Amino acid sequence: MSQILRDARRYEEARDRQIADEPRPSFHLSTRTGWLNDPNGFSYYNGEYHLFYQYHPYDSHWGPMHWGHAVSSDLLHWRYLPAALAPDTDYDRDGCFSGSAVTLDAGRHMLMYTGVVKETQSDGSSREVQTQCIAIGDGTDYEKFSGNPVLTEKDLPEDGSRFDFRDPRVWREKDGTFRCVVGNCTPQKDGRILLYSSPDGMKWKFEKILISNNGRFGRMWECPDFFPLDNKQVLVVSPMEMMPEGLKFHVGHGTIYLTGTYDKTTHTFTREDVQPVDSGIDFYAPQTMKAPDGRRIMIAWMQAWSNSKFVPEGVKYFGQMTVPRELTLKDNRLIQKPVRELEAYRSNRVCHEKVKITEETSLEGVSGRVIDMTVKLKADDNFHEFCMKVAQNEDYYTSVSYDIHRKVLCVDRSHSGYLYDIMHRREISVEPMDGMITLRCLMDRFSLEIFINDGRQTASFTLYTPQNAEGITFAAEGEAEISVEKYTLSF
Ligand code: FRU
Repeated sequence: MSQILRDARRYEEARDRQIADEPRPSFHLSTRTGWLNDPNGFSYYNGEYHLFYQYHPYDSHWGPMHWGHAVSSDLLHWRYLPAALAPDTDYDRDGCFSGSAVTLDAGRHMLMYTGVVKETQSDGSSREVQTQCIAIGDGTDYEKFSGNPVLTEKDLPEDGSRFDFRDPRVWREKDGTFRCVVGNCTPQKDGRILLYSSPDGMKWKFEKILISNNGRFGRMWECPDFFPLDNKQVLVVSPMEMMPEGLKFHVGHGTIYLTGTYDKTTHTFTREDVQPVDSGIDFYAPQTMKAPDGRRIMIAWMQAWSNSKFVPEGVKYFGQMTVPRELTLKDNRLIQKPVRELEAYRSNRVCHEKVKITEETSLEGVSGRVIDMTVKLKADDNFHEFCMKVAQNEDYYTSVSYDIHRKVLCVDRSHSGYLYDIMHRREISVEPMDGMITLRCLMDRFSLEIFINDGRQTASFTLYTPQNAEGITFAAEGEAEISVEKYTLSF
């Protein structure tokens, strides 16, 4: 083990004593120490879910990337393992960037990640050269492959930028063949996804440019994932620098999914539709895995890059994941639901049926910051705007409102306690479904995730409001009819 990795592991252990006293999310994975961004290597290995993450142990800001590591048996209780990778070789000395994991025939766990090395250019500037690398291990300790890097600029198609060549997502076909997709762009920064094949995970061959952006959705495409779902094929990518379109794609670096069909023999992906994966503020670089029971489960970094420099006051770490979500596809739309394991941790059911709402009011038993609450709003014309406030006290609130005429859901956390004037407000077009707007709200101390209309749309937000702000109120312009079902979540 290198000194750099040993130092990181020692540092983690020293920090552990303090973490116990820090307020943390109760079922969302947060970084063991320092900084966390993308989920990496999300997989099921040796009877447990493994989740690695982009990690800078020493600071609550981004820095030389390591891989943090945690395991879970229910996707909600996470146990930290020692850091898995550190930037400690000549081909990754400036960072072990995002990647993924598969199991090898001999039962070893293989990580595929991006190695980063800074290179001084003729004009004196510095750029990161990116290659793909392998590490093999037993679920705790990983050894970097002696043949690294396994994919370099030699494996790029014509016009492929060696400075933007990252985030390999590896999987195995039924016949054992390894494949991976990697994010890339042209020198003009037009994003595209490259497809590679390998018989053994070590020797790789370029197959095809799976899809090109052609100037349409942002620029460089990061963190691809490519998987079959309900008889279709889905490509999830996180384009950088997207232009908004109406109410969509406002977050800058956002995440989209493309549905379509895939011909495995010719490696042809025929795209049918493109939609945002999450319409909130804090969601990026998701990764999926197939659980042993066949479910496709997705987890993302619950953060917007553009806000990520602003570490909330009093918070000693930075970065958390979304709740893991079960995915299905209906009518070419991705449906997301919190993993069903969550239901085992619900208690104290409170239910209010068909309540008429006018002036701001609270409902008995409806409050809290670690809750699973579903609000059904009747979409009739007796009201103009419905407004729910959560994480509320005299000083703070976050509002979730619905304008029935514009058919727009608006989430606004301008009064949630952030000390910075950063992105706080998001409007989302939401059509009623069966005459209702259904909002399932998951709150976990520092976040609010809304699953709209049974997960047809989602909106994720971090919320660093002081924990004693736990009120919830409802109000309407006109008279709105709602039903509320609320559970406390205990872990
Ligand atoms: C996405 C990303 C990846 C990269 C990693 C670096 O958030 O920019 O493309 O591998 O973060 O930490």
